Amino acid sequence: MATIRDVAKHAGVSVATVSRVLNNNGYVNDETRKKVMSSIERLEYQPNELARSLYKRSSKMIGLIVPDIMNPFFPELARAVEDIATRKEYTFVLCNSDDQLVKEQKYFNVLKQKYVDGFIVVTSTLTAEHTNGMNVPIVALDRPIAKHIPSFMVDNYEGAKIAVQHLLDNGCKKIAHIRGPEQVYNAKLRLQGYIDTVSHYPWFNENLIVTGNYNLSLAKEVAIKLLKNNPDVDGIFAGNDVMAIGVIKAAEELGINVPNQLAIVGFDGISLGETTSPTLTTIQQPIYEMGSKATELLIKIIEKDRTLQDDLHVQYPAKLLKRQSTQRKA
Ligand code: RIB
Repeated sequence: MATIRDVAKHAGVSVATVSRVLNNNGYVNDETRKKVMSSIERLEYQPNELARSLYKRSSKMIGLIVPDIMNPFFPELARAVEDIATRKEYTFVLCNSDDQLVKEQKYFNVLKQKYVDGFIVVTSTLTAEHTNGMNVPIVALDRPIAKHIPSFMVDNYEGAKIAVQHLLDNGCKKIAHIRGPEQVYNAKLRLQGYIDTVSHYPWFNENLIVTGNYNLSLAKEVAIKLLKNNPDVDGIFAGNDVMAIGVIKAAEELGINVPNQLAIVGFDGISLGETTSPTLTTIQQPIYEMGSKATELLIKIIEKDRTLQDDLHVQYPAKLLKRQSTQRKA
């Protein structure tokens, strides 16, 4: 296999000149450039990507760190990141952090050593202090990190209010909330949206709020307990779709009809919600849009694009997607 030295020798130029041609930087006159290109073709020289990264301190690669690759929300985000990265001739590495700071920091360190050009991060643990001195662009997705780090997220508080109001409009008389993890910012906002919509009703009490950790099996378990202890609960707002599916399963196990005895709303709008029985009413996040815009912005920052704007925090409106799990008979 030909090396950069063979190409230099064949073209009658220095190794530095071949490298300038390959990396398209520094001055090389047209005639020399043509000679180098034709030697590359004749010798079928393939530049070594690792050597190129070392030389340029860039790998044309971005890292995407998410808390849970098993939750379909995150593969749907990753799909968008991959599409844009590929279109812009970047590759990407997907990392699962389990929402643990230690794992996030390990991925940052390892990938930085490989000259990853930037990161898109979904985190609840990383703070401004952790990112100081990292010297690599970061874009936050779904959960904010700090003021100076651009972010893309949905209006979680309004989304929750819309969800709970929809249950009230459908005649629900006692509504419970299965909330997401305590440390996750968007879970707190969704909880607040629920509280602010129902706390003035006489039936409201704190026992109607239980933690499901954004996880199907735990949500199913706590929903079973909740429904056994409060048989008059006729509406549940789950903090994400996966937990809402857990609630559908709990109702099935208890012989409770969804939606007539129990109406359910989730949050996210993952494709899986179309396949459940009944199909899931949910608050739809623009998952693909958020993933693709975050990636476009990250690449603009990496490439020092002059069209970059100052306001780098984007909040999308949340939309109600009505399906069977709230379509009650009058
Ligand atoms: O389903 C996963 C949840 O975690 C989503 O609601 C998303 O917003 C994220 O924070």
